[in-house]
Amino acid sequence: MPPLLNVSEILKNSSPQLPPSLKILILDQIDSTNSEAQRLISEKKMPPPLVIFAESQTQGRGRLDRKWESPAYQNLYLSLVIELPSQNLLAQNTLICGIALLESLLPLVPQGLQLKWPNDVLLNKKKVAGILSELVLNIGQPAKLIIGVGINVNAGPKDFSETLSNKATSLKIEFSKDFNRAEIAGRFLASFFSAFEEYFQTGFAPFREKWEGYAKPWGTRVSVEEAELRYEGTYLGLNKEGYLRVQTATGENLVIAGDVNWGI
Ligand code: BTN
Repeated sequence: MPPLLNVSEILKNSSPQLPPSLKILILDQIDSTNSEAQRLISEKKMPPPLVIFAESQTQGRGRLDRKWESPAYQNLYLSLVIELPSQNLLAQNTLICGIALLESLLPLVPQGLQLKWPNDVLLNKKKVAGILSELVLNIGQPAKLIIGVGINVNAGPKDFSETLSNKATSLKIEFSKDFNRAEIAGRFLASFFSAFEEYFQTGFAPFREKWEGYAKPWGTRVSVEEAELRYEGTYLGLNKEGYLRVQTATGENLVIAGDVNWGI
């Protein structure tokens, strides 16, 4: 049995310091940490900031209603809950979280990491982590953001279904060794809170540039699937809201909620 996650190990690896009011829950099994966060918010049991980890999920959710494969004790599955300032664009939060996640992994994985719009962290061109942002709005209360993060840490090739195995990877698969999940969790939490503190102060502009630096270069050919629409074009970076700019034969399109394949 691999070492279980525990709060003191996570905190030992969180520098700079986390918000003193942050509550950290570690559950053995849950349907989805994002769903559990929604329940805790609606029952007003735990005010933000809050982070919920689970050792396994029975109904881990990905973007666009996809399943997030969540084998027990191998990977990291967590949801953060924070309050948002009144002027905020949901899409930007996912991009900021992606930057924080990639930067927290860089000291352990100096090469091969890349961001893919809107919510993927790739390692050697395969998906190693994903982000699912959900907004909770209640009249008269500040908006709350639930930001779910799945990081494939120590899953082996057999832990992925056949459909995923050529698209997804883990740190262990790429480096043939086990990684310390608490270290990764601690580093990520520290990076997340410092990125969001800066984002709430400075706005999105510096992060837009950073994000572009961690993604494929401008000019990359992409194919886009947005609802019923499918088209190809040339990637032109992000616009100032954080949407993806794609030049097509008929003009520039903004991708707001689609799926993008790079390097076609
Ligand atoms: C994606 O890439 O489509 C997003 C994946 C997000 C997965 C995480 S695992 C923890 C949290 N709980 C969930 O049910 N989903 C997110």
